[in-house]
Amino acid sequence: MRRISVENAQSGMINARAIYSSEGKILLAAGIALNDFYITRLKELSIYSLYIQDEFASELSIPEIVSEKTRVETIKIVRQTFTQIEASRRINVLDLRDAVDKILDEVLSHSNTLVHLVDIRTFDDYTFAHSVNVCILSLLTGISLSYNTLQLKELGIGALMHDIGKTKIPLDLLNKPTRLTKKEFQLMQQHSEQGFEILRNYPEISILSTHVAYQHHERINGSGYPRGLSGNDIHEYSRIVAVTDVYDALLADRVYRPAFLPYDAIRELTRGAYTLFDPRVVAALLDNIAIYPVGSVVQLNTGDVGIVMDVNKQSQHRPIIRMLTDRRRNKVPGRQEIDLDKLSTVYIVKVFSEQLSYSILQEVEEGGSIESLLDNTQIDPD
Ligand SMILES: [Fe+2]
Repeated sequence: MRRISVENAQSGMINARAIYSSEGKILLAAGIALNDFYITRLKELSIYSLYIQDEFASELSIPEIVSEKTRVETIKIVRQTFTQIEASRRINVLDLRDAVDKILDEVLSHSNTLVHLVDIRTFDDYTFAHSVNVCILSLLTGISLSYNTLQLKELGIGALMHDIGKTKIPLDLLNKPTRLTKKEFQLMQQHSEQGFEILRNYPEISILSTHVAYQHHERINGSGYPRGLSGNDIHEYSRIVAVTDVYDALLADRVYRPAFLPYDAIRELTRGAYTLFDPRVVAALLDNIAIYPVGSVVQLNTGDVGIVMDVNKQSQHRPIIRMLTDRRRNKVPGRQEIDLDKLSTVYIVKVFSEQLSYSILQEVEEGGSIESLLDNTQIDPD
């Protein structure tokens, strides 16, 4: 399966992954053939991408760290918790604990798997789905930092609830599609402290978890908020969530920009290491992310173009590639694959956006020219 933009979706294509609403209802089941009605509906729901089956579908297996079922159930619990706070009711800490335990179990049993999938989100559940992703990514990071189970659970609760203070921020401000004014930004920043104030009412939640809500926008050079803490004055759990929060936000389609590729999001984090982010934490997160996820279309230094078929956790820069065209742009017949890990002089020089990957595969299939598409990219690994 392959992720494509809804703009490129056509009648007859097969949806490869179920798309859920934030209430856990299936909006579009896997295996369903798209038609104009569905495509229009997806656009109306502000869903920008979907996974489709294609000729690689039977061979490309994209591993999942946390099952879709657990992910959707946890999104529901986060939504419920936010709703309880909005209604001035007490939250159910036991539900949150159970949810984190479940995710942790799954993450631990897949700790050798790289994160490949970028989930499809509906616009209205952005905060809830984001909270679950931040929890998963934070736990993977904690495992790479050799945390024990108690630490992982504290980190998991803090990560899942890091934005609970947003329940105290007006909805029109949270969803504002344009740049915030200075005053609006100051109001928005209050969600950190508000989150801390909410969570500290619950003695069964560790004070370290509540500090994740308080400190996840602090930056190690002191440029963050609300208190401008720096370095180790920011608790390590918060330094982790600072990184996973930004990473997952970059990977989401937003009203004002399409999602970043993992490669570009990773570059943003690497640029921020030492100034904004703890470099140890950035390295620990990156240990778990597929830089070139399965299904990415890439160009090699030899001029050849191919599609990533498999990734090795020990050498993420050097995946296994199925050749599409050679340097003269001739289609490569059959199923020739090369393992970059075994070829020290061959490396990836370009990775193409979702949109370009789609067009390249289309042209190769139809025997057209991909020359102009290959030049059309701004994304160059350095
Ligand atoms: Fe936040």
